[in-house]
Amino acid sequence: MHVPCETRVKLRHLRWNKSSFGNGLMNEMHFYEPSKGHGLRHDPFNAIVGPRPIGWISSRDAKGQVNLAPYSFFNAFNYHPPIIGFSSTAWKDTIANVSETKEFVWNLVTKHVAEQMNVTSASVPHGVDEFELAGLTEVPSRIVNVPRVGESLVSFECKLAQIVQHQGADGVKAQAWLALGEVVAVHIDSRLIVDGVYQTALAHPVLRAGRAGDYAEIRPDAMFEMLRPT
Ligand SMILES: Cc1cc2nc3c(=O)[nH]c(=O)nc-3n(C[C@H](O)[C@H](O)[C@H](O)COP(=O)(O)O)c2cc1C
Repeated sequence: MHVPCETRVKLRHLRWNKSSFGNGLMNEMHFYEPSKGHGLRHDPFNAIVGPRPIGWISSRDAKGQVNLAPYSFFNAFNYHPPIIGFSSTAWKDTIANVSETKEFVWNLVTKHVAEQMNVTSASVPHGVDEFELAGLTEVPSRIVNVPRVGESLVSFECKLAQIVQHQGADGVKAQAWLALGEVVAVHIDSRLIVDGVYQTALAHPVLRAGRAGDYAEIRPDAMFEMLRPT
């Protein structure tokens, strides 16, 4: 992560310990109302709700043109049926394609394809195939008519369940849309399955952590177990 020098000096004095960080009741709080501005150098919103998994979405328009782009307003929302969703902060190619053909594929971003994921976020004219741009391989899916990223260790084939236009608490519509899709087929590199259990950290997933270009990589030593109370 690139951290400016002066920030790094300050961070050194802020090593986590229970007495300095453990208690929001004792410390001074930075307060703001988003509609009036955050008053900071960077909007902290997506650095706070982070790191977030990246929805690397392949899609196809009605004419058959393929598209690939990353979306970090992305998550899983339900088990049965399995639902994932991503949010587009404008009517971009991916949301337009998904609304036309009602299908998409989610591809896991890991450290070994992080740079290529970044290349696919470039604003390029509709019609440019980001697979080609980033040197990635289109592999046909089994159920939907959208290719998956061959270099990705996991992919979900999805059928569109709904598109929801965002709105504020006042009911005013935003030019932003959430696409929710049902996962209808799953591809997992079998090296990530050990004794029948999927190993999240073995894949080294890369997550978006806010600011202009902050990311986090999940490595095996970052994992810990905490079982739910019974
Ligand atoms: C890691 C990463 C995450 C992104 N997340 C989002 C997002 O959640 N929503 C969004 O609208 N754009 C997001 N973007 C920007 C889009 O990827 C970018 O606008 C892209 O050109 C959209 O491509 P498309 O028009 O082919 O769909 C993200 C970019 C990066 C690099």
